Amino acid sequence: MTSSTPKAAPGAALYDGFGRRLHYLRMSVTDRCNLSCTYCMPQQGLAKLPQGQILTLEELARVARVAVGLGVDKIRLTGGEPLLRRDLKSLLARLSALEPRPDLRLTTNGRLLTDNLAMLLELGVSTVNISLDTLDPQRYGAITGLGVEEGARAFAQVWAGIQAALKSGRLAVKLNVVLLAGVNEDQIAGFARLTLTLPLAVRFIEYMPVGRQTGFLPQRFLAAEQALAIIRGLGDLQPLPARPGDGPAQRYALPGAQGELGVIGALSSHFCATCNRLRLSAEGLLVPCLFSGQALDLKAILRGGGSDGELAQALRAAAAQKPRHHLQTPLDHRPSGCQMSRLGG
Ligand code: 5AD
Ligand code: SF4
Repeated sequence: MTSSTPKAAPGAALYDGFGRRLHYLRMSVTDRCNLSCTYCMPQQGLAKLPQGQILTLEELARVARVAVGLGVDKIRLTGGEPLLRRDLKSLLARLSALEPRPDLRLTTNGRLLTDNLAMLLELGVSTVNISLDTLDPQRYGAITGLGVEEGARAFAQVWAGIQAALKSGRLAVKLNVVLLAGVNEDQIAGFARLTLTLPLAVRFIEYMPVGRQTGFLPQRFLAAEQALAIIRGLGDLQPLPARPGDGPAQRYALPGAQGELGVIGALSSHFCATCNRLRLSAEGLLVPCLFSGQALDLKAILRGGGSDGELAQALRAAAAQKPRHHLQTPLDHRPSGCQMSRLGG
């Protein structure tokens, strides 16, 4: 710990052992997904969690309430595909009624976005992160495991969702692009060019070794720096200043662009020093770090009659388990046990 490390909690805030305040909770609301992205789902598929293993609406809302009481001010719902969860609207209604109201965000693959847009707007979701790794409908089918025809249909659904979200003018739209060598590096320039005419944020994310069952293909790793080199070829890339509470992206804008772009070097640059998040998996495991292999069974407390105080204690315990940083590099990696389809991005 350095002398500049912030002092421990004013009031009830959640701090980890390295002075980082954790105020961002990512909650996976389902392990179900209507895609099977090759880097996420194991080839042989992944057994679905029995319904009874997944946290209920009441349980999710309760965890969120306790977390907000500890200073959490940003909650992201993720999956799997969160829009597949039937009671998502009720959950969002509960979350948006919390005091103080957290900033509500959603990570989605966008297939069901058009149909759910009005609901998301009504309940005050501020930002949607849409996973999209290619602008080529055919390749979309290959990456998402849907095949050519269904892939092209799904791509059209996602694209319509993106346009509808932008048209609403009330949702910040981010596109999450996982960088995959030999799969989508030729798409990088196209994604960057989208920001010239559309007011959206593109995030190029390094492929991470998560999900032991999925495996990690090191030959697919493409460094964020390489994506930046391609984008620099498009124009004089302006770095954008970091804002308080910003995520791990280094942000840039092309000259005259409506939108912005960012790279997230999950492996090649350690942004762990500014990490501010805790994750909750669909089956109720609190995960302090994607790579630490540790998890704390919150569901056991929820279903064992635990009090709010015990839940708060568990959140503090998970915070205390957060490692200073992960030790993964592109050449020295050990896929963590976290399955992204249960934990979400
Ligand atoms: N590496 C990087 N990002 C991943 N995601 C899923 N698996 C990985 C991985 N191995 C991303 C998805 C989506 C979010 C749910 O997490 O693309 O944007
Ligand atoms: Fe793809 Fe996300 Fe579904 Fe995984 S959870 S298969 S990354 S859309």
